[in-house]
Amino acid sequence: MAEYNLLQKKILADGTIKSGDVLKVDSFLNHQIDVPFISKLGKEFYELFKDRPISKILTIEASGIGIACLTAVHFRVPVLFAKKSAGSNMDKDVYSTEIRSFTHNKVNHVVVSKKYLNAGDHVLIIDDFLANGCAVEGLIDLVHQAGAEVEGVGIAIEKGFQGGGDALRKKGYDVKSLAIIEKMDAASGTIVFR
Ligand code: G4P
Ligand code: NA
Ligand code: NA
Repeated sequence: MAEYNLLQKKILADGTIKSGDVLKVDSFLNHQIDVPFISKLGKEFYELFKDRPISKILTIEASGIGIACLTAVHFRVPVLFAKKSAGSNMDKDVYSTEIRSFTHNKVNHVVVSKKYLNAGDHVLIIDDFLANGCAVEGLIDLVHQAGAEVEGVGIAIEKGFQGGGDALRKKGYDVKSLAIIEKMDAASGTIVFR
């Protein structure tokens, strides 16, 4: 009998599988936020990365912000969230990158102000989901543009079958996910964790 961790149990209890390999967790993470529960995940990220010299947490709007903040309270560092800007006008005061979203089939122009990301920063990247890895790759690009260091990547739900997490691990990034979905099937409603 498999033993499930906190997040895995929550996904099994409250998650629903949509067609197109999309897991809906709107009741506690992506729309309504179960703050006491997500706070526990923030504490887990702290335990996983507390030995690193984290100076800043970086995420991307919108769904990453809540979980990033609930992690940052433990590290006592600021949260910086990359913004999806509508235009492609190159503001001189920002680092910018492009992130392709497979889920929404569009390309987002994503920026952070040069004021808030600096050489010498030790960055923990936090996000709610990791699928193909485009969002995290974009955030890593922003960190490198600033001459800062990526200390680790903390993800709540990784869709392992989409390969983004393993590609990042192969490149040497310390990617830790609280739940990794290996397989899910909309018809039967089954979810298999790694
Ligand atoms: P990738 O960044 O890992 O390559 O994934 P992808 O392009 O497929 O994901 C695009 C958006 O969809 C991201 O949010 C990501 O967090 C989210 N996402 C991917 N797979 C799932 C899933 O199975 N379930 C849910 N609920 N979300 C998923 P975003 O576009 O940045 O939007 P926002 O919701 O953070 O504002
Ligand atoms: Na999202
Ligand atoms: Na996100």
